[in-house]
Amino acid sequence: MQPVTRALVPGTFDPPTLGHLDVILRAAALFDEVVVAVLDNTAKTPWFSAEERESLLRAALDGAAPGGLANVRVDRFTGLLVQFADAVEARVVVKGLRSGADFDYERSMAHMNRELAPRIETVFIPADPRFSHLSSSLVREVALFGGDVARAVPPPVLEPLKERAVEQKRGRHHPHP
Ligand code: PNS
Repeated sequence: MQPVTRALVPGTFDPPTLGHLDVILRAAALFDEVVVAVLDNTAKTPWFSAEERESLLRAALDGAAPGGLANVRVDRFTGLLVQFADAVEARVVVKGLRSGADFDYERSMAHMNRELAPRIETVFIPADPRFSHLSSSLVREVALFGGDVARAVPPPVLEPLKERAVEQKRGRHHPHP
């Protein structure tokens, strides 16, 4: 019997974009099982908590296939990605590549991860050209100033993002109430 190949799709997902969703769905078509790994980084202050990012991802996946995809689950991790990969017995890490700049950065991470855990392979998926300009930070910036982000995020992410943008803007205007 062939062993099950479990792949991680890691990220901060603050918020999940259509580019993220596309990479997750394409990974789900390639590998037996996919674990979307949400980084809970205590050093950063994200717009959305790790719990919120997890539930936004679940809602986005549910929107892509009612009930979610049978071979995709969403989980959260802290610390090193390779430690999490070991803990969930994943041997592939999937990353989307939008540009040469992404590749330069991702290549260093892939080499470092390979040094730490040679058992784990990094696999790159080229971003769909429709989404290759998208990043969570650009999406947050556009949302903050009231720009239209409907073509940038999965439908279930849109309203929570708009609401959070209003809160963030208020927070920025009145940092010392
Ligand atoms: O969506 P992002 O922020 O570009 O994702 C980056 C992520 C979460 C994949 C990366 O920062 C990561 O793996 N962080 C976990 C800490 C770690 O393992 N660092 C060493 C990588 S060489």
